[in-house]
Amino acid sequence: MIMRQPSYAQKPTFYRDVQPLIHANCAVCHRPGEAAPFSLITYEDVTKRSKFIKKVVVSGYMPPWRADDHYVTFANKRSLTPEQIKTLTDWIDADMPKGKVNTEAESALLKRAQAGTGYSRVPDLTLRMLKPFTVVRDGKEHFMVFKIPFGLAETANVEAVEFTSNNKKAIHHANFAIHPVEDPAISLTNTAEQVDLNGEDASRYREWLPYKKQMTYYGGWVPGTTVETYPADMGWVMPKRGVMLLTVHFGPSAKDTISLNGVNFFFTKKPIRRTVKVISLGSGGIGERDISPPLLVFGGDSLTTKLKVAYRNQPITLLYAWPHMHQIGKRFTAFVTQADQDTIPLVRIPDWDFRWQEIYRYEKPVILPTGAVINVIGTYDNTESNPLNPNKPPKIITSDGQMRSDQEMMTLLLLYVAYEPGDENLRLN
Ligand code: HEC
Repeated sequence: MIMRQPSYAQKPTFYRDVQPLIHANCAVCHRPGEAAPFSLITYEDVTKRSKFIKKVVVSGYMPPWRADDHYVTFANKRSLTPEQIKTLTDWIDADMPKGKVNTEAESALLKRAQAGTGYSRVPDLTLRMLKPFTVVRDGKEHFMVFKIPFGLAETANVEAVEFTSNNKKAIHHANFAIHPVEDPAISLTNTAEQVDLNGEDASRYREWLPYKKQMTYYGGWVPGTTVETYPADMGWVMPKRGVMLLTVHFGPSAKDTISLNGVNFFFTKKPIRRTVKVISLGSGGIGERDISPPLLVFGGDSLTTKLKVAYRNQPITLLYAWPHMHQIGKRFTAFVTQADQDTIPLVRIPDWDFRWQEIYRYEKPVILPTGAVINVIGTYDNTESNPLNPNKPPKIITSDGQMRSDQEMMTLLLLYVAYEPGDENLRLN
């Protein structure tokens, strides 16, 4: 069969040209159960909001995608090309012709949305918050951490994980750390159940430090994230006993909202030959003290700071890059340098927006050789002219390792496996 390419001599129609584009680039979030405020699936969904859609697509506000695609192309890239934007706006300007009706794609998509999981079956384990949290209507953001203890009969091989929530619309982003706690003398229950990182009890976070000596895995959710799976042979092992620390950043809520969140785990009997691991560089991770100049930004100032980390271990194959800053972050760049070799770009966010973070999956994994240097450069704008600066007037912003959201961070998380020859040819699409 010959696939029909959209031709611009021809007027675009909905079912042939527009719906595939909307489903691929918008409906991951604009569907029931996901983060966006309305669905974009059917002809009616799209025509009802066509003026608005045109505006946000032309301005580049939607779909949210902050990475510089010219620097690195990621497998989960969802920015629209100029041709795609033209298809959409030409169609809207031509009064939105339907073309030949074919509702197969939308039925299939709605069926997947109703199943409530991005995976092909029900989860083997769901770790949920011990009790629901009420996001109160106070116009403020809330950064909460919930402790979820677990005890399994046996360790289990994880083939997929997925964040789950009764209401993703209330959440900006979430992340979860799985900490194994083997020592039975360390109680999983006699510490705080939850901590408000901006609240009076923020210091109770310290009660969890005994759990944090080891970390098996660190995963996250941002709007648009679906189930996380790994290439064949890869995965990680869920420990028998430990805690999951689930951090949830709630946006300001227009009404009191109940939020109950957790993580779905899908296990496999197949052995995991290559364990997926995470390294954290910068704030809260390796090289924190080498960030230079230190992450301290006076009100009214901007700051560019750098970190160089020499990588001395065995070569690794990078699968995902996950840059992280907070609210006055402006630009983030990471790359690898080696003596007498070309620079390897890792990720660049030219215009950081903490509301639209992303876990970037490499199309072609990056091989990090022994002796390479990982460079991270962050720019922070603590002036009044930064529209995302939460402080008017700006106040001094520090980074002293407390987990508070009103402090700053410059962190690069990398998900990887030990390198094996042939990884150069892996594709993560
Ligand atoms: C990563 C998730 C995500 C993707 C992908 C996405 N959206 Fe959105 N969209 C949202 C969220 C969340 C909101 C509400 C918050 C906001 O407006 O900032 C939103 C809001 C909107 C709005 C309302 C804007 C406003 O000012 O109120 C429109 C229109 C829209 N999206 C269209 C689109 C279109 C068209 C696409 C695809 C080309 C798309 N979105 C892709 C998450 C997404």
